[in-house]
Amino acid sequence: MQLNVKQGYIQEEAADLIVVNLFEGVKTPGGALKAVDDALGGAITQLIADGDAKGKLGETTLLYTYGRLPAPRVLITGLGKAEDFKVHHARQAAAAAAKRARQLGVTRFSTIVHGAGRGGLAPQDAAQAVAEGTLLGAYRYARRQREAKEQDTPPVAEVTVLEANPAQLEAVRRGVAVGQVLGETANWARDLINEPANYLTPRELARRIAAQAAEVGLECQVMGEEELAALGAGSFLAIARGSEEEAQFIVLEHKPQGVDLADLPTVVLVGKAITFDTGGISLKPAEDMWKMKDDMGGGAAVAAALTAAARLNLPVHAVGLIAATENMPSGRALKPGDVVTAMNGKTVEIISTDAEGRQVLADALCYAARYKPTAVVDIATLTGTIGLALGRQLAGLFCDHEDLRSRLMQASEFSGEPLWPMPLYKPYRKLLESDVADLKHTGGRYGGSILAALFLQEFAEGYPWAHLDIASTIWQDEATSFTVRGGTAFGARLLAELLRSYAARKE
Ligand code: BES
Ligand code: MN
Ligand code: ZN
Repeated sequence: MQLNVKQGYIQEEAADLIVVNLFEGVKTPGGALKAVDDALGGAITQLIADGDAKGKLGETTLLYTYGRLPAPRVLITGLGKAEDFKVHHARQAAAAAAKRARQLGVTRFSTIVHGAGRGGLAPQDAAQAVAEGTLLGAYRYARRQREAKEQDTPPVAEVTVLEANPAQLEAVRRGVAVGQVLGETANWARDLINEPANYLTPRELARRIAAQAAEVGLECQVMGEEELAALGAGSFLAIARGSEEEAQFIVLEHKPQGVDLADLPTVVLVGKAITFDTGGISLKPAEDMWKMKDDMGGGAAVAAALTAAARLNLPVHAVGLIAATENMPSGRALKPGDVVTAMNGKTVEIISTDAEGRQVLADALCYAARYKPTAVVDIATLTGTIGLALGRQLAGLFCDHEDLRSRLMQASEFSGEPLWPMPLYKPYRKLLESDVADLKHTGGRYGGSILAALFLQEFAEGYPWAHLDIASTIWQDEATSFTVRGGTAFGARLLAELLRSYAARKE
């Protein structure tokens, strides 16, 4: 999608569709909406009076202009209540508009910047949200189907963001540029998540990440099982044993141009990338197992955030560690009761081979220490129980480091990818005591997400650390205004915002 920014007035645009907005409860249009309403002889005022346009968030109302404006169609996108308004609502409103445009088969449209006027957002932030929302809302997974379906409308090709005030044009341009990167990288991660696991093997994931890295100027090193053995990654390799596909440890590094690395904070992002999780010998039930192609969502989010950092040339030293393997049963597979040794020398008793994510992350977290990082954040579809605790919209945040936690909460608020703090409750650590090894990796059903986090903490030594459990948010069974059914890429934009927060200057 091409995104343009230009100075101008929406009512003068000769696009296939123009997008304006409406706050809930507003009876008399103001600003851009008023200009359009005037040209249409008060048609919008009438729609509002009749209750046909309420301005609710996610609501879109389509009007035809019958020659009274250069554009044949007007779309009003709802912003919700002015008193509740946040930057994420501008993103959702833009997404709803883009989604409606795509359903209509409109491939070119123009929009105003939602939320910069009455919404009170900084123009750059509002413009970023509009660009991001537009890309996220227009997204569809390119299906593997022989014949096109009726609902397969063409992609939105070009969107023009209009700003009337010349003094704000530069800020809008900057915001759109950032939003374009964050939207595109998140959609790229969605494609990886939606891709079937027979296509997206660990090697294929590594190939695609390496190709993307080359394109944007990220350093990328891919290690196979031989290198992992040399590193002593016994925990990661134990999970890979059951699969015919070779495990891949993908290391991405963003070194910004024109700055001395030593002056910059180093942030390491660690992603779980199980390209398919059968559970291994502790086999999962058949029902819904197909969804386990999304078990690489953490790794996809990390790759997307690193790509964004490179494209924006953020002044931060960012490293991405992606632990990719399948989790399969076989005659060679890891068994319950086995003991494995992680990179830091700790031995782990395996209770369920379905608790594989923490095993691959354990080694990746040990590896992270070599960068002497300012902060390390891991992101993983780790436990089904996080969904029982927090539902389908909130991801769990486990972090005892105040500065890192507050940065993550701020990034979460800004990106609209909600996190909820969860406890690293020390007394539960004894549930991980083992009779045969330094520790076991599970400790019963109760508090499963907390136990998984406490297990990871044993390997996140010597640096500030946070763990994000995205098992219940990486996939949605129903579409929302800015997602389709399927992979959401939850965390991709959040982590990019975290990297932006560490960047000494805003780009
Ligand atoms: N990938 C799963 C977690 C998951 C479950 C994600 C459902 C999305 C939906 C993870 O590897 C797993 O299997 N976790 C187990 C842990 C248990 C064996 C301690 C779980 O949640 O049941
Ligand atoms: Mn599992
Ligand atoms: Zn898993």
